[in-house]
Amino acid sequence: MAAGDVAIPDGVLIGMCNPLLDIQAVVGKDLLDKYGLKANDAILTEDKHLPLFDDLVKNYDVEYIPGGAAQNVLRTFQWIINQPNKSVFFGAVGNDEFGEKLREKASNAGVQVHYQVNKEVKTGTCAALIYEHHRSLAAHLAAANTFTLDHLDKPENEAAIANAKFYYITGFFVTVCPDAILKVAKHGAEHNKVVMFNLSAPFVSQFYTKQVNEILQYVDILFGNEDEVKAYSAANNLDTDDVKEVALKLSQIEKVNKSRPRQVVITQGPDPVVVASEGKIQEFPVQQLKQEEIVDTNGAGDAFCGGFLSQYVQGKPLAEAVSVGCYAAREVISQQGCTFPPKCQLH
Ligand code: AP5
Repeated sequence: MAAGDVAIPDGVLIGMCNPLLDIQAVVGKDLLDKYGLKANDAILTEDKHLPLFDDLVKNYDVEYIPGGAAQNVLRTFQWIINQPNKSVFFGAVGNDEFGEKLREKASNAGVQVHYQVNKEVKTGTCAALIYEHHRSLAAHLAAANTFTLDHLDKPENEAAIANAKFYYITGFFVTVCPDAILKVAKHGAEHNKVVMFNLSAPFVSQFYTKQVNEILQYVDILFGNEDEVKAYSAANNLDTDDVKEVALKLSQIEKVNKSRPRQVVITQGPDPVVVASEGKIQEFPVQQLKQEEIVDTNGAGDAFCGGFLSQYVQGKPLAEAVSVGCYAAREVISQQGCTFPPKCQLH
């Protein structure tokens, strides 16, 4: 299949999340312990974590890599689609060098960037600490945290929302502006468009349980990984750690838009991707990388979603969407952070 062979409308996919610049470094367990971080986790920083950023820049060999979960997804989507301007991104940045860097990288990747710019607050950053192939993420949202609902009321943004057919929103954004998520999700459900949501991190279901459940009724495709599914189960007293069982339960939560069943797509690292829908489970094996081929897993889940979406928006079958998702994840795992080789082999 040549990925660029189907005419896809401009702005068909909207992504909404926190645009963050990743400050990535390979670290030892001592640094994780110093700041009370787990090896494979994603958290929002508290005051006690803030010195970490200076610590990293002063004492480690850092790389600055464009990050922010949905922006990673859209960049991956564009890389595979290989036609610019098919996706639009909403999120907030500061009026500074990091914000410009993010804008440049996303635009160069072909994403239409509709940032809300806050002149008072710096662009958000995410410490991406690589320890033995795992990544520990500590996000300092800063300007990203100041996104407001009225940004969506600007004529160009209203037009972008009306024009799009697919909406991809992260659980990370629940901590920032749940009203914006609900506005877009309701629009999607009312107009029979496809609303997609990612559980993003265990803390989202754990601490924002009510908001996540409110959003889920509008969601057509739910993404997550095994830890996020288990965290959802615990937060909602489902009394099971069985990924397939929880995925089935998530797929059966009532939907506002009854015209299509919900699909719940759960990645499990090198283990099979699980898809639950209409009372059934499907499993898709992952072509595993050798240990020496793995650089880091930062962005693996985002790349999977970007690859999946590149096929899904073209109406390709589920198996093909999962397969291209896995391909994109493999490419990203073989590079630092959520970055890709110049050429996508699907072209
Ligand atoms: P991060 O959470 O790292 O990205 P992710 O894309 O979700 O990566 P994970 O390593 O968590 O992967 P996963 O567990 O979701 O997927 P899985 O391992 O199942 O997010 C990175 C970004 O998040 C950063 O850029 C950061 O800026 C951003 N971020 C952090 N906090 C934020 C916040 N508050 N707001 C906004 N953004 C925030 O793997 C997925 C797939 O990969 C598998 O299905 C498989 O196909 C493939 N795969 C995995 N392991 C292997 C293997 N060994 N061999 C072959 N394929 C593999």
